[in-house]
Amino acid sequence: MSALSPSLPGGTWALGDLTVTRFGYGAMQLAGPWVMGPPADRDGAIAVLREAVDLGITHIDTSDAYGPRITNRLIREALHPYPESLHIVTKVGARRDEQGGWPTARQPDQLRRQVEENLESLGLEVLDLVNLRLGDAEGPKAGSIAEAFETLVELQREGVIRHLGVSNATAEQVAEAQGIAPIVCVQNMYNLAHRHDDELIDRLAAERIAYVPFFPLGGFSPLQSATLSAVTARLEATPMSVALAWLLHRSPNILLIPGTSSVAHLRENIAGARLSLSDEDLAELDKIGRE
Ligand SMILES: NC(=O)c1ccc[n+]([C@@H]2O[C@H](COP(=O)([O-])OP(=O)(O)OC[C@H]3O[C@@H](n4cnc5c(N)ncnc54)[C@H](OP(=O)(O)O)[C@@H]3O)[C@@H](O)[C@H]2O)c1
Repeated sequence: MSALSPSLPGGTWALGDLTVTRFGYGAMQLAGPWVMGPPADRDGAIAVLREAVDLGITHIDTSDAYGPRITNRLIREALHPYPESLHIVTKVGARRDEQGGWPTARQPDQLRRQVEENLESLGLEVLDLVNLRLGDAEGPKAGSIAEAFETLVELQREGVIRHLGVSNATAEQVAEAQGIAPIVCVQNMYNLAHRHDDELIDRLAAERIAYVPFFPLGGFSPLQSATLSAVTARLEATPMSVALAWLLHRSPNILLIPGTSSVAHLRENIAGARLSLSDEDLAELDKIGRE
Protein backbone atom coordinates (compact mmCIF):
# COMPACT_ATOMS: atom_id res chain seq x y z
CA MET A 1 0.00 0.00 0.00
CA SER A 2 1.19 3.51 -0.70
CA ALA A 3 1.67 6.26 1.80
CA LEU A 4 -0.19 8.49 -0.64
CA SER A 5 -3.29 6.34 -0.81
CA PRO A 6 -3.52 3.93 2.10
CA SER A 7 -7.18 3.41 1.34
CA LEU A 8 -6.96 2.25 -2.28
CA PRO A 9 -6.64 -1.43 -3.20
CA GLY A 10 -3.53 -2.55 -5.10
CA GLY A 11 -1.07 0.11 -3.87
CA THR A 12 0.94 2.04 -6.45
CA TRP A 13 2.93 1.58 -9.66
CA ALA A 14 5.69 3.64 -11.27
CA LEU A 15 4.93 4.83 -14.80
CA GLY A 16 8.49 5.94 -15.54
CA ASP A 17 9.14 8.62 -12.89
CA LEU A 18 5.42 9.06 -12.13
CA THR A 19 3.85 7.20 -9.23
CA VAL A 20 0.20 6.31 -9.74
CA THR A 21 -2.35 4.36 -7.77
CA ARG A 22 -3.06 0.99 -9.35
CA PHE A 23 -6.72 1.79 -8.88
CA GLY A 24 -7.31 4.58 -11.41
CA TYR A 25 -10.32 6.00 -13.16
CA GLY A 26 -11.38 5.86 -16.83
CA ALA A 27 -13.21 9.04 -17.84
CA MET A 28 -14.69 7.91 -21.17
CA GLN A 29 -18.16 7.22 -19.78
CA LEU A 30 -18.51 10.85 -18.66
CA ALA A 31 -19.44 11.99 -22.17
CA GLY A 32 -22.94 11.47 -23.62
CA PRO A 33 -24.34 8.21 -25.07
CA TRP A 34 -21.78 6.32 -27.20
CA VAL A 35 -19.15 8.82 -26.02
CA MET A 36 -20.66 11.67 -28.05
CA GLY A 37 -21.84 15.03 -26.78
CA PRO A 38 -22.29 16.27 -23.21
CA PRO A 39 -23.37 14.06 -20.30
CA ALA A 40 -27.01 14.01 -19.25
CA ASP A 41 -25.90 14.87 -15.71
CA ARG A 42 -23.09 17.43 -15.93
CA ASP A 43 -22.91 18.13 -12.20
CA GLY A 44 -22.85 14.39 -11.57
CA ALA A 45 -19.87 14.01 -13.94
CA ILE A 46 -17.96 16.77 -12.14
CA ALA A 47 -18.81 15.14 -8.80
CA VAL A 48 -17.42 11.75 -9.93
CA LEU A 49 -14.10 13.32 -10.97
CA ARG A 50 -13.75 15.23 -7.69
CA GLU A 51 -14.69 12.15 -5.68
CA ALA A 52 -12.07 10.07 -7.55
CA VAL A 53 -9.34 12.51 -6.53
CA ASP A 54 -10.71 12.91 -2.99
CA LEU A 55 -10.59 9.13 -2.59
CA GLY A 56 -6.87 9.20 -3.48
CA ILE A 57 -6.92 8.15 -7.16
CA THR A 58 -3.88 9.62 -8.96
CA HIS A 59 -4.39 8.14 -12.45
CA ILE A 60 -7.15 9.37 -14.77
CA ASP A 61 -7.41 8.02 -18.30
CA THR A 62 -8.98 10.20 -20.99
CA SER A 63 -8.85 11.32 -24.63
CA ASP A 64 -9.84 14.46 -26.49
CA ALA A 65 -11.88 12.14 -28.75
CA TYR A 66 -14.32 11.53 -25.86
CA GLY A 67 -17.24 13.79 -26.62
CA PRO A 68 -15.12 14.98 -28.55
CA ARG A 69 -13.42 17.43 -26.16
CA ILE A 70 -16.24 17.05 -23.62
CA THR A 71 -14.44 14.73 -21.21
CA ASN A 72 -11.19 16.69 -21.17
CA ARG A 73 -13.04 19.92 -20.51
CA LEU A 74 -14.98 18.31 -17.65
CA ILE A 75 -11.71 17.11 -16.14
CA ARG A 76 -10.29 20.61 -16.40
CA GLU A 77 -13.37 22.20 -14.91
CA ALA A 78 -13.55 19.71 -12.05
CA LEU A 79 -9.90 19.47 -11.12
CA HIS A 80 -7.76 22.33 -12.48
CA PRO A 81 -5.36 23.42 -11.01
CA TYR A 82 -4.43 19.76 -10.71
CA PRO A 83 -2.92 18.30 -7.55
CA GLU A 84 0.77 17.50 -8.13
CA SER A 85 0.12 13.82 -7.43
CA LEU A 86 -2.51 13.51 -10.19
CA HIS A 87 -1.43 12.10 -13.56
CA ILE A 88 -3.77 12.41 -16.54
CA VAL A 89 -3.13 9.93 -19.31
CA THR A 90 -4.48 10.72 -22.75
CA LYS A 91 -4.40 9.14 -26.19
CA VAL A 92 -4.12 10.28 -29.78
CA GLY A 93 -4.58 8.51 -33.09
CA ALA A 94 -8.32 8.68 -33.70
CA ARG A 95 -10.87 11.41 -34.24
CA ARG A 96 -14.66 11.35 -34.23
CA ASP A 97 -16.96 11.68 -37.20
CA GLU A 98 -20.53 12.94 -37.21
CA GLN A 99 -21.95 9.43 -36.88
CA GLY A 100 -19.92 8.84 -33.72
CA GLY A 101 -17.36 6.67 -35.54
CA TRP A 102 -13.67 6.62 -34.63
CA PRO A 103 -11.74 7.11 -37.91
CA THR A 104 -7.99 6.82 -37.53
CA ALA A 105 -5.95 10.05 -37.52
CA ARG A 106 -2.32 9.02 -37.32
CA GLN A 107 -0.60 11.21 -39.89
CA PRO A 108 2.18 13.31 -38.29
CA ASP A 109 0.26 16.60 -38.67
CA GLN A 110 -2.90 15.02 -37.22
CA LEU A 111 -1.01 13.67 -34.21
CA ARG A 112 0.66 17.02 -33.58
CA ARG A 113 -2.70 18.75 -33.71
CA GLN A 114 -4.26 16.23 -31.31
CA VAL A 115 -1.44 16.72 -28.82
CA GLU A 116 -1.97 20.50 -29.00
CA GLU A 117 -5.72 20.04 -28.55
CA ASN A 118 -5.22 17.81 -25.49
CA LEU A 119 -2.87 20.38 -23.95
CA GLU A 120 -5.42 23.10 -24.57
CA SER A 121 -8.53 21.25 -23.40
CA LEU A 122 -6.84 19.87 -20.28
CA GLY A 123 -5.11 23.19 -19.50
CA LEU A 124 -1.63 21.64 -19.35
CA GLU A 125 1.80 22.61 -20.70
CA VAL A 126 3.09 19.05 -20.69
CA LEU A 127 1.13 15.80 -21.05
CA ASP A 128 2.32 13.20 -18.51
CA LEU A 129 1.63 10.19 -20.71
CA VAL A 130 0.30 9.89 -24.25
CA ASN A 131 -0.79 6.57 -25.72
CA LEU A 132 -0.69 6.12 -29.47
CA ARG A 133 -4.06 4.51 -30.19
CA LEU A 134 -3.71 1.94 -32.97
CA GLY A 135 -6.07 -0.41 -34.80
CA ASP A 136 -9.71 0.60 -35.01
CA ALA A 137 -12.98 0.14 -33.13
CA GLU A 138 -12.90 -3.58 -34.04
CA GLY A 139 -9.53 -4.08 -32.31
CA PRO A 140 -5.81 -4.13 -33.11
CA LYS A 141 -4.68 -4.31 -36.76
CA ALA A 142 -1.25 -5.51 -37.84
CA GLY A 143 1.11 -3.09 -39.58
CA SER A 144 4.06 -0.82 -38.94
CA ILE A 145 3.53 2.03 -36.48
CA ALA A 146 6.96 3.60 -37.01
CA GLU A 147 5.96 6.89 -38.63
CA ALA A 148 3.21 7.65 -36.09
CA PHE A 149 5.23 6.57 -33.06
CA GLU A 150 8.28 8.54 -34.21
CA THR A 151 6.09 11.65 -34.39
CA LEU A 152 5.23 11.22 -30.70
CA VAL A 153 8.89 10.64 -29.89
CA GLU A 154 9.68 13.98 -31.58
CA LEU A 155 7.00 15.67 -29.47
CA GLN A 156 8.51 14.04 -26.39
CA ARG A 157 11.93 15.48 -27.34
CA GLU A 158 10.28 18.87 -27.81
CA GLY A 159 9.14 18.63 -24.17
CA VAL A 160 5.36 18.49 -24.51
CA ILE A 161 5.02 14.78 -23.65
CA ARG A 162 6.70 13.16 -20.65
CA HIS A 163 6.08 9.45 -21.30
CA LEU A 164 4.77 7.32 -24.15
CA GLY A 165 2.61 4.24 -24.44
CA VAL A 166 0.62 2.36 -27.07
CA SER A 167 -3.00 1.28 -27.11
CA ASN A 168 -5.08 -1.24 -29.04
CA ALA A 169 -1.75 -2.69 -30.19
CA THR A 170 -0.58 -6.12 -31.31
CA ALA A 171 2.36 -7.67 -29.46
CA GLU A 172 4.49 -7.02 -32.58
CA GLN A 173 3.56 -3.32 -32.55
CA VAL A 174 4.46 -3.11 -28.85
CA ALA A 175 7.88 -4.56 -29.70
CA GLU A 176 8.25 -2.20 -32.67
CA ALA A 177 7.53 0.83 -30.44
CA GLN A 178 10.03 -0.42 -27.86
CA GLY A 179 12.64 -0.65 -30.62
CA ILE A 180 12.13 3.08 -31.31
CA ALA A 181 11.83 4.53 -27.78
CA PRO A 182 10.96 3.38 -24.24
CA ILE A 183 7.27 2.98 -23.40
CA VAL A 184 5.80 2.92 -19.90
CA CYS A 185 2.46 1.27 -20.63
CA VAL A 186 0.30 -0.69 -23.02
CA GLN A 187 -3.46 -0.07 -22.92
CA ASN A 188 -5.41 -2.88 -24.57
CA MET A 189 -8.77 -4.56 -24.18
CA TYR A 190 -8.52 -7.25 -21.52
CA ASN A 191 -10.79 -8.64 -18.82
CA LEU A 192 -11.91 -11.94 -17.29
CA ALA A 193 -13.50 -12.98 -20.59
CA HIS A 194 -10.95 -11.53 -23.06
CA ARG A 195 -7.56 -13.05 -22.41
CA HIS A 196 -5.76 -12.52 -25.75
CA ASP A 197 -2.94 -10.58 -24.09
CA ASP A 198 -1.97 -13.09 -21.39
CA GLU A 199 1.51 -13.64 -22.80
CA LEU A 200 2.06 -9.94 -23.46
CA ILE A 201 1.09 -9.06 -19.87
CA ASP A 202 3.65 -11.49 -18.47
CA ARG A 203 6.39 -10.19 -20.77
CA LEU A 204 5.62 -6.57 -19.84
CA ALA A 205 5.55 -7.45 -16.14
CA ALA A 206 9.09 -8.83 -16.44
CA GLU A 207 10.13 -5.53 -18.06
CA ARG A 208 8.34 -3.41 -15.39
CA ILE A 209 5.99 -1.93 -18.00
CA ALA A 210 2.37 -1.32 -17.01
CA TYR A 211 -0.51 -3.08 -18.70
CA VAL A 212 -3.75 -1.06 -18.49
CA PRO A 213 -6.80 -3.07 -19.52
CA PHE A 214 -9.59 -1.10 -21.12
CA PHE A 215 -13.13 -2.44 -20.71
CA PRO A 216 -12.12 -4.09 -17.38
CA LEU A 217 -15.83 -4.55 -16.62
CA GLY A 218 -16.75 -5.50 -20.17
CA GLY A 219 -17.28 -1.95 -21.45
CA PHE A 220 -20.61 -1.48 -23.20
CA SER A 221 -21.68 -5.09 -22.50
CA PRO A 222 -21.25 -6.15 -18.85
CA LEU A 223 -19.32 -9.37 -18.26
CA GLN A 224 -21.56 -12.43 -18.11
CA SER A 225 -20.57 -16.00 -17.46
CA ALA A 226 -21.96 -18.91 -15.49
CA THR A 227 -18.61 -19.35 -13.73
CA LEU A 228 -18.47 -15.69 -12.78
CA SER A 229 -22.02 -15.93 -11.39
CA ALA A 230 -21.10 -19.03 -9.36
CA VAL A 231 -17.96 -17.46 -7.85
CA THR A 232 -19.80 -14.20 -7.22
CA ALA A 233 -22.61 -16.01 -5.39
CA ARG A 234 -20.16 -18.05 -3.29
CA LEU A 235 -18.26 -14.92 -2.25
CA GLU A 236 -21.46 -12.90 -1.75
CA ALA A 237 -19.86 -10.27 -3.99
CA THR A 238 -20.79 -8.52 -7.23
CA PRO A 239 -19.51 -9.46 -10.71
CA MET A 240 -17.80 -6.03 -10.91
CA SER A 241 -15.89 -6.57 -7.68
CA VAL A 242 -14.77 -10.06 -8.73
CA ALA A 243 -13.69 -8.75 -12.17
CA LEU A 244 -11.63 -5.92 -10.66
CA ALA A 245 -10.14 -7.96 -7.82
CA TRP A 246 -9.17 -10.67 -10.33
CA LEU A 247 -7.29 -8.11 -12.46
CA LEU A 248 -5.35 -6.87 -9.42
CA HIS A 249 -4.47 -10.48 -8.57
CA ARG A 250 -3.62 -11.33 -12.19
CA SER A 251 -0.35 -9.39 -12.37
CA PRO A 252 1.33 -6.59 -10.40
CA ASN A 253 1.78 -4.47 -13.56
CA ILE A 254 -1.97 -4.28 -14.19
CA LEU A 255 -3.47 -0.83 -13.54
CA LEU A 256 -7.24 -0.45 -13.28
CA ILE A 257 -9.17 2.30 -15.09
CA PRO A 258 -12.81 1.21 -14.65
CA GLY A 259 -15.26 3.76 -15.96
CA THR A 260 -18.36 5.01 -14.24
CA SER A 261 -20.58 8.06 -14.29
CA SER A 262 -21.79 7.38 -10.75
CA VAL A 263 -20.18 8.30 -7.43
CA ALA A 264 -21.92 5.32 -5.82
CA HIS A 265 -20.43 2.91 -8.40
CA LEU A 266 -16.99 4.47 -8.01
CA ARG A 267 -17.08 3.84 -4.25
CA GLU A 268 -18.51 0.35 -4.79
CA ASN A 269 -15.74 -0.51 -7.25
CA ILE A 270 -12.98 0.63 -4.91
CA ALA A 271 -14.46 -1.43 -2.08
CA GLY A 272 -15.06 -4.36 -4.42
CA ALA A 273 -11.51 -4.46 -5.81
CA ARG A 274 -10.31 -5.22 -2.26
CA LEU A 275 -11.98 -8.62 -2.42
CA SER A 276 -9.55 -11.35 -1.53
CA LEU A 277 -9.61 -14.32 -3.92
CA SER A 278 -8.43 -17.78 -2.87
CA ASP A 279 -6.38 -20.09 -5.09
CA GLU A 280 -9.57 -22.04 -5.70
CA ASP A 281 -11.46 -18.90 -6.79
CA LEU A 282 -8.58 -17.88 -9.07
CA ALA A 283 -8.39 -21.33 -10.67
CA GLU A 284 -12.11 -21.29 -11.35
CA LEU A 285 -12.09 -17.73 -12.72
CA ASP A 286 -9.11 -18.56 -14.90
CA LYS A 287 -11.38 -20.88 -16.92
CA ILE A 288 -13.72 -18.08 -18.00
CA GLY A 289 -11.69 -16.69 -20.88
CA ARG A 290 -11.21 -20.26 -22.08
CA GLU A 291 -14.85 -21.44 -21.83
N1 LIG B 1 -7.62 2.74 -25.60
C1 LIG B 1 -8.82 2.54 -26.06
O1 LIG B 1 -9.04 2.32 -27.26
C2 LIG B 1 -9.98 2.54 -25.09
C3 LIG B 1 -11.22 2.01 -25.49
C4 LIG B 1 -12.24 2.00 -24.56
C5 LIG B 1 -12.05 2.50 -23.28
N2 LIG B 1 -10.83 3.03 -22.92
C6 LIG B 1 -10.60 3.53 -21.55
O2 LIG B 1 -10.93 2.51 -20.63
C7 LIG B 1 -11.78 3.01 -19.59
C8 LIG B 1 -12.66 1.91 -19.07
O3 LIG B 1 -13.55 1.45 -20.08
P1 LIG B 1 -15.13 1.68 -20.02
O4 LIG B 1 -15.45 2.73 -19.03
O5 LIG B 1 -15.61 1.89 -21.40
O6 LIG B 1 -15.66 0.26 -19.60
P2 LIG B 1 -15.70 -0.54 -18.20
O7 LIG B 1 -14.86 0.14 -17.18
O8 LIG B 1 -15.43 -1.95 -18.51
O9 LIG B 1 -17.24 -0.45 -17.82
C9 LIG B 1 -17.88 0.75 -17.61
C10 LIG B 1 -19.37 0.45 -17.53
O10 LIG B 1 -19.62 -0.29 -16.33
C11 LIG B 1 -20.63 0.36 -15.58
N3 LIG B 1 -20.26 0.22 -14.16
C12 LIG B 1 -19.12 0.61 -13.56
N4 LIG B 1 -19.14 0.30 -12.26
C13 LIG B 1 -20.34 -0.28 -12.01
C14 LIG B 1 -20.97 -0.79 -10.84
N5 LIG B 1 -20.36 -0.77 -9.66
N6 LIG B 1 -22.22 -1.31 -10.97
C15 LIG B 1 -22.85 -1.34 -12.18
N7 LIG B 1 -22.30 -0.87 -13.31
C16 LIG B 1 -21.06 -0.33 -13.23
C17 LIG B 1 -20.64 1.80 -16.00
O11 LIG B 1 -21.92 2.34 -15.86
P3 LIG B 1 -22.23 3.53 -14.81
O12 LIG B 1 -21.75 4.79 -15.46
O13 LIG B 1 -23.70 3.46 -14.65
O14 LIG B 1 -21.48 3.21 -13.56
C18 LIG B 1 -20.22 1.69 -17.46
O15 LIG B 1 -21.37 1.48 -18.26
C19 LIG B 1 -12.54 4.14 -20.30
O16 LIG B 1 -13.10 5.04 -19.39
C20 LIG B 1 -11.46 4.74 -21.16
O17 LIG B 1 -10.71 5.68 -20.40
C21 LIG B 1 -9.81 3.03 -23.80
